[in-house]
Order: sequence, then C-alpha cells, then structure tokens
Amino acid sequence: MAPGAQNSFLQGSASGPCGSSTGLTACSGSCAFCHGTDGRTPPTLGRSFYPRVPDLSSAQVQAYSDAELFWIIKNGIHLSGMPGFGNIHSDEEIWDLVSYVRSLGAPSQR
Ligand code: HEC
Repeated sequence: MAPGAQNSFLQGSASGPCGSSTGLTACSGSCAFCHGTDGRTPPTLGRSFYPRVPDLSSAQVQAYSDAELFWIIKNGIHLSGMPGFGNIHSDEEIWDLVSYVRSLGAPSQR
C-alpha cells in the first residue's frame, strides 16, 4: 500500500474492501473512472484514451483467461492508459476484480 496514495482517484469514490458484494461495487469504482460505472460504457474521459478503453463485457476482454485478467489488472498495460493496481489492491482484491470483469460477461447476470 503506497503511503500518501497520490492515486486516490484510482480507488473510486467509495472506500472499502473489495471482498464483500457491496465492497466489490466500491472496489470496481477503480475501473469506473475510465471503463464506466457499468464497465461497459466508458465516460468521456475513457473515450479520450488511445487505444480506446474496451467494453469489459466484450468478447475481446472475456477471451482472456482468469490468470491473464489478473496479470492485466495487477500490472496494467504499458504504453496505454490502463494502470496497474498491484500497489493499491492486494492479490485477493485483484481476484475479486477478475470476478467482477467475469460477471460483466456472464449473460445470466445482465
Ligand atoms: C486511467 C484509466 C483506466 C482505469 C482506471 C482502468 N482502466 Fe482498464 N483500460 C484502460 C485503457 C486505456 C485500456 C486499453 C488498453 C489497450 O487496449 O492497450 C484498458 C484496458 C483494459 C482491459 C483489456 C485489456 C486488453 O488487452 O484488451 C481490461 C481487462 C481492463 N482494462 C480492466 C480494468 C479493470 C478491472 C479496472 C479496475 C480495477 C481498470 N481496467 C481500470 C484504462 C483504464
């Protein structure tokens, strides 16, 4: 955990652990900033990135394995706007974020 947390915007508006169902919503606020509150419709800021911020429910994103999603969320994608969350979220929380991305792709949960 970085002291000072200059990247506080990455932690979303609500703070709390990602583990619980309410906490997961708070934690996915980290993604909402660029990917949209529903993970599918990026806000103006998200659309200003190049490469574009992808729809997290899209086939392109869902094609990644859980391990690949974990790596992407933990390390980010270099040379793009996608930040790594490894220094602000524990591995356990990152697995919860992987589940969050998966839940967006699950047709049963739409
Ligand atoms: C500061 C803006 C920003 C934030 C915050 C952000 N992302 Fe991203 N994300 C991006 C951009 C830009 C890309 C596109 C990168 C590319 O295509 O190279 C991306 C791409 C991705 C991809 C797809 C990678 C690929 O190769 O197709 C996944 C999955 C993803 N983000 C998940 C997340 C999750 C989960 C969170 C919250 C923990 C999050 N992102 C937070 C900007 C952001």
